[in-house]
Amino acid sequence: MTTVRVAMTGFGNVGNQVAELIDRRREHFATHFGVEVLVTGVCGSTTGLIDPSRISPERLQHKAAFEPGLTGSAFMEQVNADVLVEAGPSDYSTGQPGLDYITSAINRGLHVIAVSKGALVVEGPTLLQSAREKGVQLLMSGASASALPTIDFLTYDLAGTHIKRIEAVLTGTTTFILDTMVSRNASFDEALAEAQQLGIAEPEPSFDVDGWDTAAKVVIIANAVFGVPLAISSLARESLRSLTAEQLGSWKADGLTPRLVGYVNQDEGQVEAGVGIRLYSAEHPFSLTRGSTKALYAETMDLGEFTLLGGASNPRATAAAALKDFHHILTSSE
Ligand SMILES: NC(=O)c1ccc[n+]([C@@H]2O[C@H](COP(=O)([O-])OP(=O)(O)OC[C@H]3O[C@@H](n4cnc5c(N)ncnc54)[C@H](OP(=O)(O)O)[C@@H]3O)[C@@H](O)[C@H]2O)c1
Repeated sequence: MTTVRVAMTGFGNVGNQVAELIDRRREHFATHFGVEVLVTGVCGSTTGLIDPSRISPERLQHKAAFEPGLTGSAFMEQVNADVLVEAGPSDYSTGQPGLDYITSAINRGLHVIAVSKGALVVEGPTLLQSAREKGVQLLMSGASASALPTIDFLTYDLAGTHIKRIEAVLTGTTTFILDTMVSRNASFDEALAEAQQLGIAEPEPSFDVDGWDTAAKVVIIANAVFGVPLAISSLARESLRSLTAEQLGSWKADGLTPRLVGYVNQDEGQVEAGVGIRLYSAEHPFSLTRGSTKALYAETMDLGEFTLLGGASNPRATAAAALKDFHHILTSSE
């Protein structure tokens, strides 16, 4: 039986779930793909563990046995793997540490499953080009709305047709804040405070409420689907901060639901992308999004219009999206 060895950089909430799912699906991989899948290395910010024969789930939980310093380039030089799962932090200004891990993996001929977003936002087109040149796959479902199929749907199911426009609800925190403002006639500050109390919004909320999270996902999706090198700083971006309870009240009276959406318009080779607050009638599927539910709308030249809605939004679902990428790698290697 062929062996497929998996290395993981970043072993937090998502990384742990990825390892658990790989272990749970070992038999499935053997039966359906004829491969034995082994986790051969994991690392965090200061320590790591490498064993070319296999690291069992029990050993993965025993963090005290991880070797100090076995991280970064030392980890990449020593680990023996066919696939890298990158699940470290996302930094949108430097792309690190994921950028170095992904670059190193591609140069070494590993397929890469990116869950972190920083490297893809900062250097997505370059990384995709390097992967093509090296004949490896760089997949990123976990970094592009996780359980909601975005890149896969747009590139596989809509292959060959011209996609005129996409619009997507990609940040659950903003949906929660908007709905709280509407249902309670609350101000932005009151709705944000409630979201923070419930642990839905971060203490430093700019990432979500100023549209950065949505913008990052738009950049990742646009780079992969439309092949355009978009810089996150060049996207038009609206924030929730300037909204007032009165504004929301008047939209409610008109039967309109506000959502913060990312959009990409493609017309005669020109691509326009951004993040804005849009209003939807009660019949529009985006009005059905609640809390963390994500949604994607696509308008095509020949296939008509589509709306996808749903998917869980948590580390388990993100790990399952990474495993979907892994299945795609196994399928295309058959
Ligand atoms: N959570 C989700 O549902 C979700 C959804 C979509 C995308 N993502 C993305 O997935 C990534 C992981 O999320 P998470 O929730 O698992 O985060 P997390 O729990 O904070 O885990 C991050 C991991 O990265 C490690 N790390 C930090 N610096 C590193 C370095 N220089 N080299 C190697 N590892 C390093 C940390 O190790 P230490 O513990 O040693 O610091 C930790 O193991 C993030 O980029 C996030 O944006 C997450």
